[in-house]
Amino acid sequence: MSKIQRNILISGASKGIGKAIAEKALEDGHNISMGLRDLRKFKESKGSPLLYENERVLINSYEAKDKKSAQLWVAKTKERFGKIDTLIHCAGIFKKTPLNFENQEEKDIEDLWKVNVMGPWILTRECWQNLIANKNSRIIVLVSMSGKRSKGKLASYTTSKFALMGLCQTIRNEGWDKGLRVTTINPGWVNTSMASDVVSIKKEEMTQPEDIGLIVSNILKLPNSCIPFEININCNLEKSI
Ligand SMILES: NC(=O)c1ccc[n+]([C@@H]2O[C@H](COP(=O)([O-])OP(=O)(O)OC[C@H]3O[C@@H](n4cnc5c(N)ncnc54)[C@H](OP(=O)(O)O)[C@@H]3O)[C@@H](O)[C@H]2O)c1
Repeated sequence: MSKIQRNILISGASKGIGKAIAEKALEDGHNISMGLRDLRKFKESKGSPLLYENERVLINSYEAKDKKSAQLWVAKTKERFGKIDTLIHCAGIFKKTPLNFENQEEKDIEDLWKVNVMGPWILTRECWQNLIANKNSRIIVLVSMSGKRSKGKLASYTTSKFALMGLCQTIRNEGWDKGLRVTTINPGWVNTSMASDVVSIKKEEMTQPEDIGLIVSNILKLPNSCIPFEININCNLEKSI
């Protein structure tokens, strides 16, 4: 396993899975650049080493629906760290919009496409030249088991995550010869605010965000010849897969 110190952009690091990944990456000695929607709220919250902006931590404004904010974030990160070799997409939203949605729910579907699909797409495009310049770059994407199979009646979320999986396969194809490796992490339920309404499984029995932080930590240590494309994670048995 290698001990490369990476320069990592991470979206959705304000809480949940993204925050756990960022904390572990910081502990591992990497430089991190976090993209957040509400900088003030994050800086005022207590209890995280990530709160202290320092020479290894950069905190930036990032709204996934705003292309300009992606451009500015990438430019500022490049200016601070010199190069960018790792991009971790954790920003995402969840909606229960069903197949036969009400007219007023159409906006939810649009939001899912903008945040879950176009957000990572645009950010990847903004980082691309930096990533392929390194011959050893990584993109890690929080997709979901909902990007692998349709369970229940979550038409909008599921279609956004299937589309994201398609995007990841394409990134893999286009980045491979340039030394860029992509990993999709596909959990079932993870104990974050996104799963706060779930009652079918106890919170302590869900996958914990810190455990995903550990998985990412290991991916970042592995060589190009040993990077898994998909990591499917279930906290409960799904008999149909
Ligand atoms: N939790 C689960 O059960 C689960 C399972 C499978 C996959 N996932 C996926 O894992 C990823 C992380 O989810 P999580 O569980 O950590 O959820 P979470 O706790 O709700 O965190 C979501 C993160 O995304 C950010 N975000 C949301 N909308 C954004 C936007 N328009 N622009 C920029 N950032 C935005 C949030 O920022 P704010 O703080 O500003 O809201 C937050 O940092 C998501 O892609 C999710 O679909 C989660």
